Amino acid sequence: MARVDAEAPVIRLADYLPPTYLTDRVELTVRLSPGATRVRARLHMRPNPALPEDPHDLHFEGRALKLISAAIDGQTVPRNAQALDGEGLRIPAELVPQRPFVWEAETEISPDTNTALEGLYMSRGMYCTQCEAQGFRKITFFPDRPDVMATYKVRIEGDAPVMLSNGNLIGSGPGWAEWEDPHPKPCYLFALVAGDLRAVEDSFTTRSGREVLLQIWVRPGDEPRCGYAMDALKRSMAWDEEVYGREYDLDRFMIVAVDDFNMGAMENKGLNIFNSKYVLASPETATDTDYAFIESIIAHEYFHNWTGNRITCRDWFQLCLKEGLTVFRDQQFSADQRSAAVKRIEDVIRLRSAQFREDAGPLAHPVRPEEYIEINNFYTATVYEKGAEVIGMLRRLVGPETYAKALDLYFQRHDGEACTIEDWLKVFEDASGRDLTQFKRWYSQAGTPRLKVRESFEAGEYSLTFSQSTPPTPGQPVKAPLVIPVAYGLLDREGAEIESGVLELTNPVQRFSWAMTEQPVPSLLRGFSAPVILERPSDAAGRAFLLGHDSDPFNKWEAGRAHALDLIGRMSRDAGVTAEPEYLDALSALAEDDSLDPAFKALALGLPSVEDVISALAEAGHAPDPGAIHAARRRLEVAIAAGLGEMLPALYQDNDVPGPYLPDAAAAGRRALRARALGLLTALEPEAGRAEAQFAAADNMTERMSALSLLVAHGRGAEALAEFEAVWSSDRLVMDKWFAVQASLTPPETAVETVQALARRQDFDWKNPNRFRSLVGAFASGNAAGFHAESGAGYDFVIDWLIRLDPVNPQTTARLTTAFGTWRVFGAERRDAMRAALERLAGQPDLSKDASEMVSRLLTDDTP
Ligand code: TRP
Ligand code: ZN
Repeated sequence: MARVDAEAPVIRLADYLPPTYLTDRVELTVRLSPGATRVRARLHMRPNPALPEDPHDLHFEGRALKLISAAIDGQTVPRNAQALDGEGLRIPAELVPQRPFVWEAETEISPDTNTALEGLYMSRGMYCTQCEAQGFRKITFFPDRPDVMATYKVRIEGDAPVMLSNGNLIGSGPGWAEWEDPHPKPCYLFALVAGDLRAVEDSFTTRSGREVLLQIWVRPGDEPRCGYAMDALKRSMAWDEEVYGREYDLDRFMIVAVDDFNMGAMENKGLNIFNSKYVLASPETATDTDYAFIESIIAHEYFHNWTGNRITCRDWFQLCLKEGLTVFRDQQFSADQRSAAVKRIEDVIRLRSAQFREDAGPLAHPVRPEEYIEINNFYTATVYEKGAEVIGMLRRLVGPETYAKALDLYFQRHDGEACTIEDWLKVFEDASGRDLTQFKRWYSQAGTPRLKVRESFEAGEYSLTFSQSTPPTPGQPVKAPLVIPVAYGLLDREGAEIESGVLELTNPVQRFSWAMTEQPVPSLLRGFSAPVILERPSDAAGRAFLLGHDSDPFNKWEAGRAHALDLIGRMSRDAGVTAEPEYLDALSALAEDDSLDPAFKALALGLPSVEDVISALAEAGHAPDPGAIHAARRRLEVAIAAGLGEMLPALYQDNDVPGPYLPDAAAAGRRALRARALGLLTALEPEAGRAEAQFAAADNMTERMSALSLLVAHGRGAEALAEFEAVWSSDRLVMDKWFAVQASLTPPETAVETVQALARRQDFDWKNPNRFRSLVGAFASGNAAGFHAESGAGYDFVIDWLIRLDPVNPQTTARLTTAFGTWRVFGAERRDAMRAALERLAGQPDLSKDASEMVSRLLTDDTP
């Protein structure tokens, strides 16, 4: 087997050392010019008093910087005294004063050739920055680590009409602007934006009476699409005051929408920078899903002001300290703003499809990783989503009141500090009096725990015996037992609840018992109270019972989902398998139940994705066939549609939302159910023209897209796609949808040729990450049957594009290699083809450190 030996050094948590010099204040003057921007930095530094007296060398990180001059306390540092390499600059200890001093350096950088979108770069004529995790070193020489916190004064010079940085505006004139950020921050939160921008403004008065100016900065013409983001921002600010007691702390809060962006958004202090896709929305251009994402990402970045910015991470191993907690907070926010049950189900779908899949393959790592080569590769579902689950478990274990006390203590004790997971857990130990030693394993142990349950009923005693185990993951062959909170309910034979509560598992095997006169039906892991795979003994009848009776909405949904997963898997392996009548009847009863939220019904009538069935089959030890799964899923759709029968047209018509489009959760839920009904109707009668009719009549993007998706999925999209393109060809965000719907939904027979043709188009602007992801990403991770085409052409298509993208944008390239993370679960042919494709990428000369770390982890044989 080929091994890729990354030359870049491995960074280890165990090797952490405090900074040798502190930087308390940063004064930057940035003279903007596309090809030659000059950055003058004055750093007020001092030896770290926490370290032993003997003088240390002074070390700065720096990449792709042209050094013009350097001085300490006004004295030029001679060139021969600077050890300069591609990674930074080192000044020998004898030249460094052992008292406070001023470091001055002038560097030159070239934003217009910076296609990696890290550091200072240009996006369609606009300057912007991205410094997390280690982009500031591409702006000036600096101790680029989050435990160095400083106040910043930034002067920007240039001819852009608008020039922004963090904090408060302290002065401006023709050709310059000055900003002061009084809150000490790590350099990864630095931001600068300049260009021809317009602000949509509003204001927010904090509960202590501080008036905050709110600005959303966009390109001229995009102002009308900012309303929802502004509304979401104000609701986020109010919510953080109400629920966490956290107020905003500057005179203004700014958001900038940028078209070229590697991720979703960035929480720079007072100046959040967003992928424009998560800011701009109008009923004509954005779907209900887009609106929901905007709401949660605006909230997420805003919430970082306290969880991330005021209290930051000591080092990048502690990334989940800010990300897990902030995801948990944004999930709570969305649950409060919308339906909590529906939000929980959506979050679990996402957790399983991204994080469980990551945990099941060669990329598995702990919520707090212990080593990395490129930290950008660890902004993962495990750090974010599993990191949030761990906090949800903590809250469940200590209870909401103690959780609130612990958080108050966290803010009080650590405000202004760079912290660790140990600090975080200590506030919970202090607030609750609990010992969290065993709980802490959730942070260090990778892999998804498996939980088996055995039931017994004898002599008036009902018991449940749980056994837990976690399979080996790379570098962790042996696992220890975890603390697992299992929320449960016991139902009687009529479906009435006998009792409910939380079982706390701590041992490998643990038994719980109840005195009962008749055997109850257990509803386990309610609300998905722990991120585990629960192997429960169930048959169609048992699941249909819970689908019909469980009062916990998550488990009600879960009963149907578990059955669909299992059924599609069996149907894909045996053409003779058909859906059980109990299951279809339970779905019909659910569809008819007027007490249920339409958004919930839409989810309960939805089917797991092909990718989810692949994972489930792999878990059961079978080699999945994506084409067969796709076909089986289709057959089940038809069976469900037939089972619902006459109910379907009514479900479709009754959920037509009258009046102008509003993005609220209630209306969105009805649209989702209507779309689901249309999907089932179309599965049953693709020729009936219903999707065509909805496409033609739709006055909003949600309904237009749901119709277009069905048309594409049924191979009937040509006309609608042409019409859509004619209307929207000049709107980048909308055309991203046009690419993505084809890449992800074109049926397997024509999928590869379709994406190949799309990639040849003029408007496949592949250097733009959104466009690249809309085609290559949507195909690789959203069209399993096409990507895994038997010919291997799907793999080649993706790898060819990753090879092309890597020298331009390593971060986005590395991220998309994760589509190959499942290669080991397939039969020999696919497995070999996927591995060969990865090896082809691995063999590229000058492969980036980002991509080379990923392919080396993907290919290494140290995996289960
Ligand atoms: N901290 C950001 C968030 O979670 C995400 C982020 C990390 C990011 N690195 C980035 C965004 C690089 C853009 C580019 O909100
Ligand atoms: Zn974040």
